[in-house]
Amino acid sequence: MENEKLQVLLSKMTVKQKVAQLLQLNPFYFEADRNEEQITGPMTDLHVTEEEIGLVGSILGVPDAENARKIQNQHLTTDPNKIPLLFMIDAIHGYKTIYPIPLAMAGTFNPAIVEETASMSAYETSTQGHHVTFSPMVDLVRDARWGRVMEASGEDVYVNQEMARAFVRGYQGPANELHGNQEKIAACVKHFAGYGMVEGGREYNTVDLSRKELFQNHLPAYEAALDEGAKLVMSAFNLFEGVPVSANTYIFRDILRERLAFEGVTISDWGAVKELVYHGVTGGKEGAAELALKAGIDIEMMSSCYIEYLEVLVERGEIETAILDEAVLRILTLKNDLGLFENPYRGLDLENKELSEEHLDIARRAAEESFVLLKNDEQTLPLNTEAKVALVGPFAESDDLLGGWVIFGKRDETPVLATKFKETFTNATVVPTADHQTITDAEIAEAVAAAKLSDSVVLAVGETSDESGEASSRSNIQLAAAQQKLIKAVAEVNENITLVIFNGRPLELTGIEAYAKAILIAWFPGSEGANALTRVLSGKVAPSAKLTMSFPRAVGQVPIYYNQLPTGRPVDAADADAAFASSYLDVANTPLYPFGYGLSYGELTITDWSIANTQLQKDEAVSIEVTVANTGTTTTSDVVQLYMNDPIAAVSRPIKELKRFHKLTMAPQTTATITLTLLYKELGYYDSQTNYRIDAGELHFTVGFDSAHVSERKTLTVKEGS
Ligand code: IFM
Repeated sequence: MENEKLQVLLSKMTVKQKVAQLLQLNPFYFEADRNEEQITGPMTDLHVTEEEIGLVGSILGVPDAENARKIQNQHLTTDPNKIPLLFMIDAIHGYKTIYPIPLAMAGTFNPAIVEETASMSAYETSTQGHHVTFSPMVDLVRDARWGRVMEASGEDVYVNQEMARAFVRGYQGPANELHGNQEKIAACVKHFAGYGMVEGGREYNTVDLSRKELFQNHLPAYEAALDEGAKLVMSAFNLFEGVPVSANTYIFRDILRERLAFEGVTISDWGAVKELVYHGVTGGKEGAAELALKAGIDIEMMSSCYIEYLEVLVERGEIETAILDEAVLRILTLKNDLGLFENPYRGLDLENKELSEEHLDIARRAAEESFVLLKNDEQTLPLNTEAKVALVGPFAESDDLLGGWVIFGKRDETPVLATKFKETFTNATVVPTADHQTITDAEIAEAVAAAKLSDSVVLAVGETSDESGEASSRSNIQLAAAQQKLIKAVAEVNENITLVIFNGRPLELTGIEAYAKAILIAWFPGSEGANALTRVLSGKVAPSAKLTMSFPRAVGQVPIYYNQLPTGRPVDAADADAAFASSYLDVANTPLYPFGYGLSYGELTITDWSIANTQLQKDEAVSIEVTVANTGTTTTSDVVQLYMNDPIAAVSRPIKELKRFHKLTMAPQTTATITLTLLYKELGYYDSQTNYRIDAGELHFTVGFDSAHVSERKTLTVKEGS
């Protein structure tokens, strides 16, 4: 309908009906089928009446198309204004067809494949009657103990921005065409803002972040997502400057609405409005309702402060009707943008393509591009398909390949590694273990016996999918002791060990990496993981992904990230043991595997690079040319990374920050020259007052294939600041 008609609709609504639009419930409040996976937060009793349920504005986690149709049907008979329900869901990395976890997808350094997977996910999600996905999560993450890093893009601001853009484009397509484009859904970026910095990596914990850090490192991915037209923003659970974000006027009104000019819908995280009481910023649910709405939270997810108290707060004049109306109008506008007034059953009539060949093909390509090869001594990989290979360990026959945040993907429909592996490696012996934490002596003995008879061993090890994701923080990020014992026992009888590691976070691999000649990080690779892994292990496809989070040597180094600030007492490389330097007594400062790192089966070389215009005037662009050669015998992909350092600024600047990347695939004996262009406006930083500034002076650039091994620096002189 025309937007003007929304105003007319709004004017006819009672306060109760308006407040109900701000409530989001899960299917447990409707006559819907249920499963435990839909519960993504504490299930406390909400005080909602039957009448209110009949008026409610949105629902999260409906199990399927049939239930969606039934609930929408029913709703249209109970809502006197016939305002369709909005259906939301956590389709984080696919719906039924599951692609790799977001942390793995970021490591592809290929926004095009990220966009393709998000688009596939939008399609499947839409066919089941959902209109919004709670994705992408764009929190910048630096602490591997936090389980939610699996849902993020890692420790780098620029990668985070590029991935945020790709996800939003994939889900939504052009934001103003959602109405006619039923294959697309609206994206809800989360968790605004700063949630990636939870202290100690502990879920739901507190955050203390400076405004400068917020602007410099955490907001850019949001800006990117909003620039692509993301329709919704979810609030974080954490505090900002002592005030919970869901009650934080500075975060939602000053930054999101004013500075970032966001006009879409905001939604709390599950129960976060009620949790304002537990944070101790109000004495009860009435105060929580007032604080959250005034701060700018439109929809309250799964707590009932608004529905219980907003009506009376408005009646008493403690909340202006205009504040309520603007929130309701934003929700009506989103429903209208999605075309729900014309077709409340949007998407439900699309052809079902779940687990179709087309979608599985996307999932397979994504998985192949997401594996990170950390080590490959003596070209252990790829493996000879004729050789005798023992596939051993808890993940050999595990169907736990989909990862966390999978509500509708089916593990029992997911091929396990052993099945696909045996199709290619015809002389393979498979010795699975029943569990990943308790491995019996008999299982170890069987694995050792198989290893003795084999040319090489693939050890499929890792953490399980419920050991990362929401509410899955860990203080110990090593493989379970039993798996370490298994690896060591097998390595004693066979030195050709490949570790294939399934994980939702960077792990501490220090204790085991020496026992393996090759290490391949598989993450949680999704529906086609087994197929993709087999193709990479056999050399049909070469690995090409890079780490977007550093792998620490010891958990005590965490948070560890490449783009750190300089210290006043840096370690002198020539004298690493010198006293009074910023270092540990028992471990180096460097990670075991750094950001941007990842091998392939071949190797590319940067043979030359130059800055085209080394003197930059205001508003000009700088072009950096990089020449790359493949002198080997195999087609190889790698990611050229451009880093910048601003040596003198008003605030201390990172020793290195990624400014551009470019993934290349090169045939043997070829060279290529790429141009990386940076705009003047991208060369600045935020000062302590959160002013963005670009200074006149020198900037240093380096290039490389990972953050730790870069070229000699070259200098760009910025002639004029602003
Ligand atoms: O979308 C999620 C959020 O990321 C964490 N809490 C629950 C929400 C809805 O399931």
